[in-house]
Amino acid sequence: MTIPAQSDGAETAKTPAATLTKGAAKGETLLKVTGLQKHFPIRKGLLSRQVGAVRAVDGIDFEVRAGETLGVVGESGCGKSTMGRLITRLLEPTGGKVEFQGRDITHLSTGGMRPMRRDVQMIFQDPYSSLNPRHTIGTIVSAPFRLQGVEPEGGVKKEVQRMLEVVGLNPEHYNRYPHEFSGGQRQRIGIARALALNPKLVVADEPVSALDVSIQAQVVNLLDDLQQELGLTYVIIAHDLSVVRHVSDRIAVMYLGKIVELADRDSLYTAPMHPYTKALMSAVPIPDPKRRNVKSERILLTGDVPSPIAPPSGCRFHTRCWKATEICKTTEPPLLELKPGQQVACHHPENAEDQAPQDVVLLSAAKVAIELVPDAVLAEEAAAKKSEAPAEKAPEAAAEAAETAEVVETAEVAEAAEAAEAAEAAEAVEAPEAAEAPEAVDAPGTSASVEAPEVTEAEAPAEPEAGRQESTDK
Ligand SMILES: Nc1ncnc2c1ncn2[C@@H]1O[C@H](COP(=O)(O)OP(=O)(O)OP(=O)(O)O)[C@@H](O)[C@H]1O
Ligand code: SF4
Ligand SMILES: [Mg+2]
Repeated sequence: MTIPAQSDGAETAKTPAATLTKGAAKGETLLKVTGLQKHFPIRKGLLSRQVGAVRAVDGIDFEVRAGETLGVVGESGCGKSTMGRLITRLLEPTGGKVEFQGRDITHLSTGGMRPMRRDVQMIFQDPYSSLNPRHTIGTIVSAPFRLQGVEPEGGVKKEVQRMLEVVGLNPEHYNRYPHEFSGGQRQRIGIARALALNPKLVVADEPVSALDVSIQAQVVNLLDDLQQELGLTYVIIAHDLSVVRHVSDRIAVMYLGKIVELADRDSLYTAPMHPYTKALMSAVPIPDPKRRNVKSERILLTGDVPSPIAPPSGCRFHTRCWKATEICKTTEPPLLELKPGQQVACHHPENAEDQAPQDVVLLSAAKVAIELVPDAVLAEEAAAKKSEAPAEKAPEAAAEAAETAEVVETAEVAEAAEAAEAAEAAEAVEAPEAAEAPEAVDAPGTSASVEAPEVTEAEAPAEPEAGRQESTDK
């Protein structure tokens, strides 16, 4: 599917037909994840004794099938990026298993992972910090060839230029530097780098969230086209439900380190079964007999997301769920296929048989867990925000960006360069954390660097509903 979009200045010439081939039959399981965990230790004291752990990913199971796009959504901090880094083996899992094409890669060493890096690539969130400002586009996109010691037919330069063309950039720009490109074009460069070695699986962590809304659609459409042409398999992580809806075949919803619902896109959007998914969708009425007399309006979750250091007992969502009963507090619901193709972890799912029908008394927290806001009020708020935001924020943001661009210190660029170098070394990718971390990567004195991040923030699409409620709560 294609979303209409404005141009990001990239070449619009039709991309050359794919010459790449894939090694997996469509629909075959490419990646299988079982009980995957990542606990980041918390250390204290002189002896750095471990006093706890951030349970960023806490036992998740899913499969990715060749040729599909699996979308991953959830509130900030629920473990999406950690999951992405675990499956690309940029992070060492604490527990569980990752199998790629039937091969256990859970604890492969860097050397052992080297051949696999060709097949599994990552696109990073921020096109400003993930490209080395000191390197030309040619050097950046050809890095994977150098690192893997691959000499394509016709030479690296020719192949890189072909890739630039595939992603809609002018191959003549081979010798230009990142600061000479806009945000959308930079993300295309990142995509070209990720696709250079003809990977089978591409994990994209918030690939468009740093981009202007109109450019987001351009990049999403590009990813979509490339998937058709090159037979790629994607795992796309995003905050924005509309982006995920456009690109995904199936969607996994994460909450506090767990997958709470995994279903095909249409089922998830038309009949979500997990109360949290439903809150994320938010525009749906609540057909809940326990709340029969409550007017069905939009659901806004109240309360903060609990800490992943000490997640709630039983179902992790019970502190914010309007359907929570005693069993939810004591017993963790397993992720079960309650409808064909729809897996849900809930004792009292929506649109399906109750898994604990004997447990009918709502927890007291459940009675205040959500706020039902009339559609009219939300519409008014949205309209008010829309009319205020660009007018007030954009000039301010642009001015700020212009200032920043003027005073960018060499040291800052060097720092960014280091981070980007790390990202380029798609191999030794203990790096992406470093690559993604620094915000300030604009190269000095260019209009491209002036425009993008701040304006993007001002225009960024709305957070999922639950996230929105957090701010309402304050
Ligand atoms: N290297 C790390 N050390 C310690 N804690 C970490 C580390 N990386 C992530 N975390 C923690 O793990 C949890 C999950 O983080 P993660 O980045 O995976 O979330 P996310 O869903 O990608 O959030 P966002 O949508 O904001 O990007 C967070 O509580 C985060 O603070
Ligand atoms: S198990 Fe209970 S608390 Fe958890 S989502 Fe389902 S109803 Fe809500
Ligand atoms: Mg993230």
